[in-house]
Amino acid sequence: MSKQRLLTGDTPTGRLHIGHYVGSIENRLALQNQYECYFLIANKHAFTTRADKPDEIRQSVIDVATDWLAVGIDPNVSTMFIQSEVPAIDELTFFFAMLIPFNRVMRNPTLAQEIKDKDLGDKYPFGFPLYAVGQCADILAFRPEIVPVGEDQLPHLELTREVARRFDQLYCSVNPHTEDKDYVKSGGLFPVIQPKLGRVKRLVGTGAPDAQGNLLKMSKSLNNAIFLSDDADTVQKKVMGMYTDPKRIRATDPGETDPEKNPLWAFHEIFNPDENWVREQKEAYAQGKVGDVAIKRRLVDVLNTLIEPIRNRRKQYESRPDDVLDALRLGTKRANEVAEETLALAKKAMKQDYFPRTLRIE
Ligand code: TRP
Repeated sequence: MSKQRLLTGDTPTGRLHIGHYVGSIENRLALQNQYECYFLIANKHAFTTRADKPDEIRQSVIDVATDWLAVGIDPNVSTMFIQSEVPAIDELTFFFAMLIPFNRVMRNPTLAQEIKDKDLGDKYPFGFPLYAVGQCADILAFRPEIVPVGEDQLPHLELTREVARRFDQLYCSVNPHTEDKDYVKSGGLFPVIQPKLGRVKRLVGTGAPDAQGNLLKMSKSLNNAIFLSDDADTVQKKVMGMYTDPKRIRATDPGETDPEKNPLWAFHEIFNPDENWVREQKEAYAQGKVGDVAIKRRLVDVLNTLIEPIRNRRKQYESRPDDVLDALRLGTKRANEVAEETLALAKKAMKQDYFPRTLRIE
């Protein structure tokens, strides 16, 4: 029996950080041998808000690919590819855009949140809401069973599920009462995909909370991130300078150990494999028996142990940029084979299969 397929992707906004690692990358590494994996670099999505920065986007594409190789994505096992080099995705986007009401797209809470967070007002380009439809095509072009993502992506995946059902009902005569898991069995082209969330839904950053007292999500743009490519000294500086419990002046003051309020403990709980140590030291910290510095030092070690092999592999790839591009070339070729096949089947189902074609990447 052939393996089930898995697809996920990253928008290239820069280097990856430890929040990406526990949110999704860890999952990908664990699943890369069990599933036939497709990892997409969503460079067109990056243009929705940064169309004026093509150089930056190009660099980010290379950065993301380099980070993937550094964490241990094997380009001979998994298919890693560039979104804009797979034209079938765009062609499916156009057809899918006919299957969803415009208002349905605009009600997507992730889009609404992004408009707010990035202060887009009503100035966003037409391509901004279109990317949500594009994401359905990113996914369905590969007909995967599962899609590992962070929580913020769930609305996009729900839209993808709706598109699959609608297409299969309209063009493949699938009965609307069919259960989601049975769509393909009942003659549908597209599976009604399943999301898969990571071990950690949301990793906080190293900085102070917002005005409402909530710690902010780790994010490059908030300047509160520890990157998978940071060197050992940078990790140390970031950890030693991180926000902890502001009310704690001396090591003998009782300290805040709630991971929702003190990122020091959020990080230990998530990254430190020595659970006994964490439990004991947390108690000591709460009772004012251990200082911040000791707990931070240990965190520096824990994070550097995680990052060091990644950092070393990254250095190797940085010195061989052609290897990174070759991994993408290989993946993009494979991705096109699958996406072209899907598009041909979709066109056939829609009775728009006039001339066969082949596509070649050089
Ligand atoms: N929108 C996703 C993000 O910003 C990236 C993405 C694009 C994606 N296409 C995808 C994720 C398809 C999963 C599946 O994180």
